[in-house]
Amino acid sequence: MIQKNISAIIDMKKNKSKLVVLTCYDANMSKLLSNLDVDILLVGDSVGMVKLGYSNTLSVTIEDMIHHTKAVKRGNTGNKLIVADMPYMTYENNPQEAVINAKKLIDAGADAVKVEGGQEILPSIKEILSANISVMGHLGLMPQSVEKIGGFKVQCRDEQSAQKLLEDSIILQQAGVFSIVLECIPQMVAKNVTEKLDISTISCGAGRYCDGQVLVLDDMLGMFSDFTPKFVKKYANLAQTIKDAVELYSKEVRTEKFPEEGNTYK
Ligand code: KIV
Repeated sequence: MIQKNISAIIDMKKNKSKLVVLTCYDANMSKLLSNLDVDILLVGDSVGMVKLGYSNTLSVTIEDMIHHTKAVKRGNTGNKLIVADMPYMTYENNPQEAVINAKKLIDAGADAVKVEGGQEILPSIKEILSANISVMGHLGLMPQSVEKIGGFKVQCRDEQSAQKLLEDSIILQQAGVFSIVLECIPQMVAKNVTEKLDISTISCGAGRYCDGQVLVLDDMLGMFSDFTPKFVKKYANLAQTIKDAVELYSKEVRTEKFPEEGNTYK
């Protein structure tokens, strides 16, 4: 079933049908999203920023990711493919540790894991794949390297870094990853990579020519306003909807309009 899902994702590139990916962190949203026209639920380590109050993803732990992956799995009544992020410092430098941590996420309910990096983390990627665990790559802006690169900035603006991105993408494909997120890079750089690969590229601020798109759910729903990158389109303004609802509730409690007859037991 899981393999079928992964191969269905791979086939989508051949059929030129766009991949729809959204982040998801809890059971209620998982129940909603998994019954809509979405291909992959990504339990992103962005959970650290949009749900746990950190200013970046570096503080997210494997226990945090297990907790949220289990919740998404419980809500996944639509049986969508679940990909869980491996958090910072749980896979990069030690391939054996990478497999142990990847297995924890699979045991929590993920069908595949996502890791950030190219050539430099290849030993870990190979070890995870050889443990029969599917891997999604992540290149371009890698939020787990935010301190190294000095902030959330557009990447691969020059020839040399665009070439390195292409080389890393090919290395990941050859290793056996089933798709690659390209984050915050110029559209034409992503187009070039997408045309050279047989596996799907998934844009997170990498423009329209990728094989699919991913957005952080809270960003696209207008729920998270601490930091909104240019590439995010807000499809709703739920923060305003929530404010209006809470203000109305508060007013009705204070003026004794709530509860009404229909809300009370006889
Ligand atoms: O953590 C995350 O949500 C991600 C996506 C933004 C691609 O990695």
